Amino acid sequence: MPDSPAHFALIEPAPAKINLALAVTGRRADGYHLLDSLVTFTAFGDRIGLSPAEEDRFTLSGPFAGALAAEGDNLVTRARDRLREALGGAPAVHIHLEKNLPVASGIGGGSADAAATLRGLLALWQAGLPHDALNAIALYLGADVPMCLASRPLVARGIGEAIAPLALPPLAMVLANPLVGVSTPAVFKALASTDNPPLALEGASADWPAAIAGLRNDLEPPARRLCPEIARISESLGEAEASTVRMSGSGATCFGLYPSREAADAAAAALSRRHPHWFFAATTTLGASDGAH
Ligand code: C5P
Repeated sequence: MPDSPAHFALIEPAPAKINLALAVTGRRADGYHLLDSLVTFTAFGDRIGLSPAEEDRFTLSGPFAGALAAEGDNLVTRARDRLREALGGAPAVHIHLEKNLPVASGIGGGSADAAATLRGLLALWQAGLPHDALNAIALYLGADVPMCLASRPLVARGIGEAIAPLALPPLAMVLANPLVGVSTPAVFKALASTDNPPLALEGASADWPAAIAGLRNDLEPPARRLCPEIARISESLGEAEASTVRMSGSGATCFGLYPSREAADAAAAALSRRHPHWFFAATTTLGASDGAH
C-alpha cells in the first residue's frame, strides 16, 4: 500500500505559512478580525500525493499524522468535495497527506494542505476555474487558504484574503514548536485590543531582516498568556543566537531568523539536542518565483 507521496501520479508541496509580522487592525461584525500581515512560506512543509482511483480514498503518513487521524473531518477532503462540486463532478481520487507540520501551530498546516489539494486536483483533473471562483472556494475553507494558494511572499489584509505579492528575499530560519496545540479562536478572544496600528512597511525593502526585526505580532502577547511554553521556546531561540525571534500566526510555533542556512542548520541541531521533547526544523523561505501558481 502506498505510504508516501512518492508513489503517486502527482506530488504537490504544501509549504508552511509564516507570519513574519501580524497586526490586528480591527474586528468585523461577524467576529472575524481585520489583519495586516507580512507573510512568507518555507521549503519545509507537508506533501500531498494524488492518483486516480476506483473510489475516493484519503490516507496519512508522517510524524504528525496521528494528531489528524483522530479527527473525522479534515480540510483535505473538504477541499476535494468543494472543488468537485464547483466543477460539476470529477473522477475519484486517492489523496495521501504526508503530515510533517505540527497541527494547530500557527503555521497554516491545515490551510496549506487544503490549498495544495486544490492546486493538485486541478492539475490531476486537468481542470480550470476562474481565479475568483477558486479564491472563493479557498476562503470558504478558511481565512488562510487563499494566501496558501499563492505560497509566495505577500502582504495579507482583510481577514487574510486580500493579497498583495511582495518581493522578499529567501530567509534562513529555524521553526520551533513546543508541541502544545493553541486554539486560534481562544487567542483572538484573549486580545487586549483589536484596534492596533497597521504594520510600518514603508521603506522596509532596503534591509528586510532589519525591517522584520522592528515589526510585531499582535497575537503573541495573548498567546503567551494562554501558553507559557511560547516564552520558553522563544528564549531557547534567542540563546541559539537567532537575530530575530517571533511567534507565527496564533502560535505556538516561533521562528528564529539566521544570517545563513548553515547557521540555521547548526542552531536547529544544537536546539534538538538540548530540548529533545520540542520540535525544531531549519528551513529557507521561498522567494517570489518559487511559489505555487
Ligand atoms: O478561517 P479559519 O477557520 O482559519 O479561522 C479560525 C478562527 O480564527 C475563526 O473562527 C476566528 O475565530 C479566528 N479568526 C479571526 N480573524 C481572522 C482569521 C481567523 O478572528 N482573520
